[in-house]
Amino acid sequence: MLSIIIVLLNLLIETSVSLTVVVPPDPIVAHVGSTVILPCWISPPENAEALEIRWYRQDQFSNPVLLYNQGKIQDVQEESYRNRSSLALRSDQSGGLKDGDVSLRLEKLRVQDGGLFHCYVSGEHSYGSEEMTLKITALGSAPVLSPKSLDGGRVNISCRSSGWYPEPSVSWTSDEGRVLRPGGTSHTRGADEMISVHSWTTVSLSDAQLVSCSVSLRPGELKEGSLDIQGIVSSGPSDSSGLWKALFLTFLICSLLGLFGLILYRYKHKQTDREEETLERLLKAVVEDMNIEELRQHAVEITIDRERSHPDLKVSKDCKIMRDNPEYKPTGEGFPYQLCAYGAQGFTSGRHYWEVQLKLENTPPKNFWMIGVVKEENLPTRDSSALTASAGFWFLCSDGPYGFCTNTDPLIRFSLTPRPERLGVLLDYDHGQLSFYNVTERKHLLTISCRFSGSLVPLFNPGVGDKSPLKILDLPKPAEPDEPSQPLLSNMAAVELDVKASDNL
Ligand SMILES: *[C@@H]1O[C@H](CO)[C@@H](O)[C@H](O)[C@H]1NC(C)=O
Ligand SMILES: *[C@@H]1O[C@H](CO)[C@@H](O)[C@H](O)[C@H]1NC(C)=O
Repeated sequence: MLSIIIVLLNLLIETSVSLTVVVPPDPIVAHVGSTVILPCWISPPENAEALEIRWYRQDQFSNPVLLYNQGKIQDVQEESYRNRSSLALRSDQSGGLKDGDVSLRLEKLRVQDGGLFHCYVSGEHSYGSEEMTLKITALGSAPVLSPKSLDGGRVNISCRSSGWYPEPSVSWTSDEGRVLRPGGTSHTRGADEMISVHSWTTVSLSDAQLVSCSVSLRPGELKEGSLDIQGIVSSGPSDSSGLWKALFLTFLICSLLGLFGLILYRYKHKQTDREEETLERLLKAVVEDMNIEELRQHAVEITIDRERSHPDLKVSKDCKIMRDNPEYKPTGEGFPYQLCAYGAQGFTSGRHYWEVQLKLENTPPKNFWMIGVVKEENLPTRDSSALTASAGFWFLCSDGPYGFCTNTDPLIRFSLTPRPERLGVLLDYDHGQLSFYNVTERKHLLTISCRFSGSLVPLFNPGVGDKSPLKILDLPKPAEPDEPSQPLLSNMAAVELDVKASDNL
């Protein structure tokens, strides 16, 4: 009789102590490389410290992502989750295991982590299990746009971007959001599962100016690139003021930052003599307008502040020449934005001009560099994501095969040919302008307009792996008005000597 009662009682306990496990109904979405928390909890709350908690992938019950048992995390685990998985709080308010929160934290997410996860909790008499989906996405690189001119005043524009997951979609627009039909779009999957995309479209020069390519996973998760086609190819009969307009790029970026760029290109094909002439005259006008001597009236001596430069930079004794330490291996891909050095001179008003040499004799011009100014109060920074205009960074960057860019949002990439061998920088603090010049070609490249505040210091980054170092030039004292071209020549001689000195690096 007594044993029957005990059996009945046991049955009663078993059925009443049921474990209900709860997970969110919708899939969790996270980026490659990020950390995610997969929430899972016991409802109503129950202390889970003495329970078994097992997170596992489909059909991998005995090879779990994480196993907690007998009060601690056990050392049985699918190899790829070692050191990447742990138990975590599903929110700040959570009481943790004591309150039945058995959420899983996964770090350094990979594409392969996408799919079903089972949250299994088991006590002595009962267990509960639920499954949830983790979706992995990866936001790729900023699209690079490149134009190719076709017959009949049309341009074929290519847009390329890599590092996406899953397959992104591509859309094209021109001025004021007019939608352009893509001519073709193709995706390729790399060995690392990441997807590259290439799309092209053709536009007529007469009905588009700024063409944008947007690569997106879903609304709000996109990267965009733009190209001013009028600035690249000029055609059709036009007076010089029209051409002038065409040569100026105008980008409206954000309320803080406007960018005016001037990119000069020679249109090689299908041009009538008359147009050739107009362009020729215009280029000359630009050259004459670009009076280097006038800029050099504002020359200031710039030296590198060693204390604040990145530890992996080599800086010469005179604090003028810098390059990457040959042993330095950048972490991550892409431009090594963190590798910065800063000028020792700060500016709070007025006009200041300096020049930077980007080419040694008998070597091609540097492929990687970043030159500009930064608000002194924001130094030093080791974090590349902090290099925004709103954080007080303004620069022109050369990113090797990816062309040139400024830190605008969205990022605008463009080509500059020829690649600058010597770059002039004019900071006009009072007018809120930072201008860049190709000194060798005597061309204005572009001007970034912004509202400056506080003390600004010059910013330099020599990139990684270039043969030539980056060198701040000693400019001659501002020229006397009666000998306009003399300083330029004597400066050339000085450069040759300086370049030899830089071999000591
Ligand atoms: C996990 O971390 C330990 C020590 O922190 C390390 O020795 C081991 O190689 C790591 N395992 C993996 C797979 O990363
Ligand atoms: C445009 O260029 C792409 C390659 O970038 C090419 O595949 C495509 O055929 C070109 N289209 C036209 C109409 O020339």
